[in-house]
Amino acid sequence: MRPILKSLLAAAFALSATVASADAIADGKKVYMTKSCMACHGIKGAKPVLSYPMLAGQNEKYLLNQLKDIKAGKRVGTVDTTTGAPFVQGMIDIMHLVDDNDLKNVAKYLSSLPPGKPKPVDPPFEADLLAAGEKAFNSLGCKSCHGANGVKPTAKTYPFIAGLNAQYLARAMTEMRDKVRVGGQSKLMFGTIKKASDEDITAMSAWLSQIDRSAN
Ligand code: HEC
Ligand code: HEC
Repeated sequence: MRPILKSLLAAAFALSATVASADAIADGKKVYMTKSCMACHGIKGAKPVLSYPMLAGQNEKYLLNQLKDIKAGKRVGTVDTTTGAPFVQGMIDIMHLVDDNDLKNVAKYLSSLPPGKPKPVDPPFEADLLAAGEKAFNSLGCKSCHGANGVKPTAKTYPFIAGLNAQYLARAMTEMRDKVRVGGQSKLMFGTIKKASDEDITAMSAWLSQIDRSAN
């Protein structure tokens, strides 16, 4: 094949791949806006309500794995005492509205978005608590998978944890320590998180929740 034709074909192929990905993101946005995700996870996945997780800028593979697990009933978790149902129940209830392709596209869309700013807490966390959180995170070895300050996971299937809601972080850590959340790749956490006391978890959650990923 003549070199010029070869490079034209390569360019056309690259363009069609970009267009396909843009289409998937647009479809994912539609899913997010119309299948009630926004009601709980907020505008552009960056302003979740209550103690729910931020999704904007999360790893695509991590998001998709969680969505599949939730749909298959493999992620259960603790009960919300205000509703009497597991926190994840609201999602389980709407999962019949989405098919596998919707899940793929919505994961692509959410991972393409810029992460939101940390949710301010009133009164702000004490400096001592934040310092204890940073110390526990570093000494327990969380960095080896979630990266320094929780902003750089070392594998595509590992989540970003900085900037998530403090209550959500504490719940996720406790659920994995107590082996209530056992789906996905949660087993990778077990060896490390079992060394964390309740105080460590409270401090690490406070500290991580105030790290601004949008500034990184
Ligand atoms: C009724 C509220 C509600 C609705 C509607 C909802 N979610 Fe959720 N979502 C939650 C809650 C609460 C959790 C955390 C569950 C837990 O604590 O285990 C969650 C967790 C998630 C997670 C896992 C995040 C993580 O960091 O592990 C993803 C991904 C997600 N939701 C995506 C979606 C998508 C996409 C939709 C729409 C198809 C949706 N959610 C609709 C409340 C909701
Ligand atoms: C060996 C790798 C590894 C280590 C070490 C590790 N984690 Fe994780 N962590 C993971 C993986 C993988 C997941 C995703 C689990 C899943 O698929 O459900 C996760 C999930 C989490 C989540 C839930 C995120 C979400 O959006 O729901 C939090 C919070 C967390 N880790 C905090 C920590 C803290 C704090 C430490 C240190 C005490 C730590 N992790 C140590 C691999 C690790």
